Amino acid sequence: MKVLGIIGSKRKKGNTTILVNQALKPFIENGDTCEVIHLGSLTFEGCYGCEGCAKTNKCVLKDDMQPLYTKLREADAVILGSPTYFYNMSSDMKKFIDRCYCFCTFSDDDRSQWISEFENGKPKYAGIIAVCEQNSVDDMGYTAIAMKDAWRSLGFRNVFVQGALKAFRPGEINSQPDQVEAAYKNGVRLRETVKLARKAVKD
Ligand SMILES: Cc1cc2nc3c(=O)[nH]c(=O)nc-3n(C[C@H](O)[C@H](O)[C@H](O)COP(=O)(O)O)c2cc1C
Repeated sequence: MKVLGIIGSKRKKGNTTILVNQALKPFIENGDTCEVIHLGSLTFEGCYGCEGCAKTNKCVLKDDMQPLYTKLREADAVILGSPTYFYNMSSDMKKFIDRCYCFCTFSDDDRSQWISEFENGKPKYAGIIAVCEQNSVDDMGYTAIAMKDAWRSLGFRNVFVQGALKAFRPGEINSQPDQVEAAYKNGVRLRETVKLARKAVKD
């Protein structure tokens, strides 16, 4: 099983990283192939909207997204994590998701009909983690919602969506053991789902 953790915070020891790593733990414990991608360490541009990918499903921008496309194609599951920046996901996470536009194919006659490349073969599963410092879900704004909707439109089934409030400084989430434990349990659920899917395909 191959799993990617994709982190949209530049704080490598921040709250998002902690929760994504927790959700990856059940996979690591079972010997699965896991990789953590810190988007802030990559050099890549935002989508140009050039439609260069329209006929090929290949993005024409040659940057650090190219190896990530291969990893996404190979992954069984992906965990996306982002801090809340002004009621939404971080700009790195947004930039990354926008660049996944190349996986989509639209009908020539009706652009309200589209599929993602990920709907063509093995089903793919995902987990969504959003973090914010304030006390109420309203202050998290669209962070979890925007990631989950975009990722679903790219053909992933979101097995869990976890929002963590009241975490400001890097590492502060560790003072909320319920959130840390929830991330681990969510990872277990995601792994079980992938296992069920693989069994169903084999049977
Ligand atoms: C530019 C910026 C905007 C932010 N906007 C919000 C916000 O709208 N709501 C909120 O609750 N927290 C907001 N925060 C706080 C972060 O979401 C919070 O510190 C989070 O724990 C950061 O995650 P990280 O440790 O993974 O980087 C903001 C922080 C920054 C730097």
